[in-house]
Amino acid sequence: MKVETLRWFNNRLEMIDQRILPAAFEYLSYYTASSVAEGIRHMVVRGAPAIGVAAAYGVALEAQHLQEKSADDFKSGMEAGFTVLAASRPTAVNLFWALQRMRKVWESVAAQTTQQIAQRLLAEAHEILAEDIRINKAMGAHGAALLKDGARVLTHCNAGALATAGWGTALGVFRSAVEAGKKISVIADETRPFLQGARLTAWEMVQENIPVTLITDNMSGHLMAHGEIDAVVVGTDRVAANGDVANKIGTYMVAVLAKRHNIPFYVACPLSTIDLNIASGKDIPIEERSVEEVKGFRDYHWAAEGVKIRNPAFDVTPAELVTGLITEKGVVLAPDVHNIKKLMSA
Ligand code: MRU
Repeated sequence: MKVETLRWFNNRLEMIDQRILPAAFEYLSYYTASSVAEGIRHMVVRGAPAIGVAAAYGVALEAQHLQEKSADDFKSGMEAGFTVLAASRPTAVNLFWALQRMRKVWESVAAQTTQQIAQRLLAEAHEILAEDIRINKAMGAHGAALLKDGARVLTHCNAGALATAGWGTALGVFRSAVEAGKKISVIADETRPFLQGARLTAWEMVQENIPVTLITDNMSGHLMAHGEIDAVVVGTDRVAANGDVANKIGTYMVAVLAKRHNIPFYVACPLSTIDLNIASGKDIPIEERSVEEVKGFRDYHWAAEGVKIRNPAFDVTPAELVTGLITEKGVVLAPDVHNIKKLMSA
């Protein structure tokens, strides 16, 4: 089954509404940069690479929307589009990576007509989407080689087709392992508070008949202690120059437990997620989301009224806990400042 998380259809961007999965499967349509930014902020689309692809289309949509304006109005409208997209979510660096790539393309054709610029930007957004799938398949092949036949693999959050343009990063590793004939099974952390594991990872794996078992976030230590987990593979939102990894809140806990039990902890990480401008994880901006996500669901509140609530959406796993980064160029074992620099300049 091919999940098209984002697609270009009838001159507009369509994105699966991930807030309502798996109860309902629906596409929402987007025509402007600000509506795409809203879609990112409200988690219609989420997952680092998917956010980057959405932002690229946001820029392309804005150019289409403004192409009949004067050159000056086109330019100021486009700048506003870039600004609103950049403010949508702070942690996943793929958003900023994609915006920078789109800006470079714009600069390279700035002397052309607004219609030509719009066309070129749309072509680039299509290329970013297609490239993302190619990269995920390459990562999948490298990662699959790390898993032995019969491996029981824990994952946290959703780093699947729904978090990318298709195939997925961590779940792409599982798909590639299955494609290579390995019998693996997946253990999916529920991933409070937004339940990306229970709703999205479990859904993707069930759709494809890849054996999957759902657990709550506080159960993995028990399973590890009983020898029921052979490896951990997660995705990431930003990797600092020293190899520290930001990912969905709770990932750090899993990495500490994995170390305690001598279980390899792998991070599936496209090069677009590595941020050489950030020296270490402590400088990665961590999004703090609405307390409503922790308090309850919609109108029902299970938390005591009046209690103070925190909701950091990501945490940082220090590089020393990471067995390897699985990238499209191969696996980097024991990531640190030197081997990451080498990887990025190769
Ligand atoms: O808040 P989300 O759902 O956007 O968080 C997603 C994650 O943390 C993923 O693990 C990460 O983006 C990697 S996706 C390939």
